[in-house]
Formats: sequence, C-alpha cells, structure tokens
Amino acid sequence: MPRLPTLEPGSVAAKRRPAGDDHPPGSLAEVTAGVDHCRRCDLWRDATQGVPGEGPPRAKLLFVGEQPGDQEDLAGRPFVGPAGQVLDKALAAAGVPRAETYVTNAVKHFKHEQRGKRRIHKTPNGGEVTACRWWLDAERRLVRPRVIVALGGTAIGAVFGKAMPVAKFRQQAIQLPDQAQGVVTYHPSYLLRVPDAATKAKAYALFVEDLKFAWSLAA
Ligand code: URA
Repeated sequence: MPRLPTLEPGSVAAKRRPAGDDHPPGSLAEVTAGVDHCRRCDLWRDATQGVPGEGPPRAKLLFVGEQPGDQEDLAGRPFVGPAGQVLDKALAAAGVPRAETYVTNAVKHFKHEQRGKRRIHKTPNGGEVTACRWWLDAERRLVRPRVIVALGGTAIGAVFGKAMPVAKFRQQAIQLPDQAQGVVTYHPSYLLRVPDAATKAKAYALFVEDLKFAWSLAA
C-alpha cells in the first residue's frame, strides 16, 4: 500500500495528528490504538471512540463496511448492531464462520447528526474516506487476506478507488494490486431498508450467494 505523504510540520493537517502518526502501523495493535487517537479528519469530535477492525490477524477473508453505527460507536466493535445481525445471519446461512474472518470499516468513526435523542447516521464524504484509508490500508497490509469483500458503495470506493455498481460486478473476483481478490456485494443496511418483502428476500438471497462466493474464493 502506498504511504501517505508526510505532512509539513506546522501545517493545519499536521497539527491535527498525534506525534508518530506518520509512520505506518506495524501491527494490528498499533492500528487499534491509532484509530482511537486519529485526527486525520474531524469525525472523532462527535464519536465516542474509534472502532478498529477485529478478527484473526491472518484471516483469509476481510470484510469492509462503511462506518460504525450507533451501537458500534458505543461498543467499540464493528457490526454489532442491526446491520451486524443481518451480516451474522447471512454468514451463518452461507456457512462462513465470522470468527475466521476480519471485519472492519472504510471509516473508523461514527458520522452522525443529533436529532433530539437520536443519532442519525450520515454517509461519510470522499475526504473522510480518503483520510481513513491510512487505517484500512494498514489493516489490508497486515492481515494480507486472500479476499476482500466490500459491502456497499462507500466500502467499494475505499477498496477499489472507484464506484462499481453491485448489480453489475457482484459474483466476480476482481484482482487488487495487493494480491488480494476483491468482491463487491450489498451493504447489510440496504437489506434492512428494502421496503417490500419479496424484493428484500431476493436481495438477501443474493447477499448470501455473494458471501458463499467470497468464502469459496478464499478457501
Ligand atoms: N454499518 C457498517 O458499515 N459498519 C458497521 O460496523 C455497522 C454498521
């Protein structure tokens, strides 16, 4: 993975970063510690904590979601809320043991807007995704998975550097520069939002197929 350019000492962006943050992390433990202190963008200000990826350090399959949601922000763990429950159910249906996979997000802090007592999810912008690639790239370099599954549009942009419509590119193994194969599929939150039951069931079945496909590639 390319190193981000070192910032001029004294530049605005450099002032936002803790000392030593210009050295790529050498371990997943450093990623975990670094994510929580990250000042590469402003999302840390309203988040409870940074949420790093989790899973075996040499997992063959790595999932990338968008960003932690409300429950993930509080728990400090990825995909533990409603989207995580959909992912867990689909993984079980596909015969993929989550504990053998590494699960992370394109953006490590929860972007949201406070409306009364509720914290409403906001999609991260391109600058936030680019800033957070420092951590995603480190996780990819350290875990060295055989297969990377991008869940939905934000993850696809972070992993492939461009938009790739899921309906067109799903069920394909797409070579990535770091030797991993990339796979695109739907984000589990999309499955929660589909309004009519028949379309929802169809989208869920496609999602399970895509998880099976990714697992077979990683085997
Ligand atoms: N959505 C994501 O993309 N990631 C999470 O961790 C939870 C919800």
